[in-house]
Amino acid sequence: TRAIKIAPSILSADFANFGAECAAIESQGADWVHVDVMDGHFVPNITFGPATCAAIRPHIKGVMDVHLMIAPVDPYIDAFANAGADVITAHLEAGPHIHRTLQAIRSHGVKAGIALNPGTPAEAIAPLMDMIDLVCVMTVNPGFGGQSFIMSQIEKVRSLSDMIGDRPIHIEIDGGVDPKTAPLVAAAGADVLVAGSAVFRGGSVSAPEVYGENIRAI
Ligand code: DX5
Ligand code: ZN
Repeated sequence: TRAIKIAPSILSADFANFGAECAAIESQGADWVHVDVMDGHFVPNITFGPATCAAIRPHIKGVMDVHLMIAPVDPYIDAFANAGADVITAHLEAGPHIHRTLQAIRSHGVKAGIALNPGTPAEAIAPLMDMIDLVCVMTVNPGFGGQSFIMSQIEKVRSLSDMIGDRPIHIEIDGGVDPKTAPLVAAAGADVLVAGSAVFRGGSVSAPEVYGENIRAI
């Protein structure tokens, strides 16, 4: 079985304090920092863009995992790569040319991820296995933190795990991950668990130990 990595999502962090929040979660054991970019078009919410990613980059020692919930995505790949993303994940549903998008991400030497919304089948990645380093399974409808985990997606995680086998492709779970749902998806083959509200709940940069407790509980 694969070692589980925890990737707190800063969507649930203090938007006035991103640099300190990234440092706090890393000091408390976060493996990756998950950065949720939303454009108010692909999803019904707006967060931040490449400039924010560039600003928080120096505050992240580990992996900056950028999740692009934007459409179109191709015009912005360069900007997010130049902002220092280690992983850039695009939604399969964001446009007609996902293969080209993944090529563009990798052309920057950045790891390429594909995100699947709850309505998209696991089989969608079959033609793309040699183009991806990560598949992100949305276990909520994208756009907001604090939503309930969609249980039907566990079957999809299992299918992806069977399809991927021992290929070097991370299976990332995104949405509603907490101490109850984490074991279910880990058992189904996931190895990177995104958690926003479950990590940031009750903590702050002045009480970072709560982040540590929340991370260890997952
Ligand atoms: C939702 C984002 C998720 C979200 C997870 O569109 O992609 O990363 O921040 O938040 P929780 O863990 O609170 O469901
Ligand atoms: Zn996300």
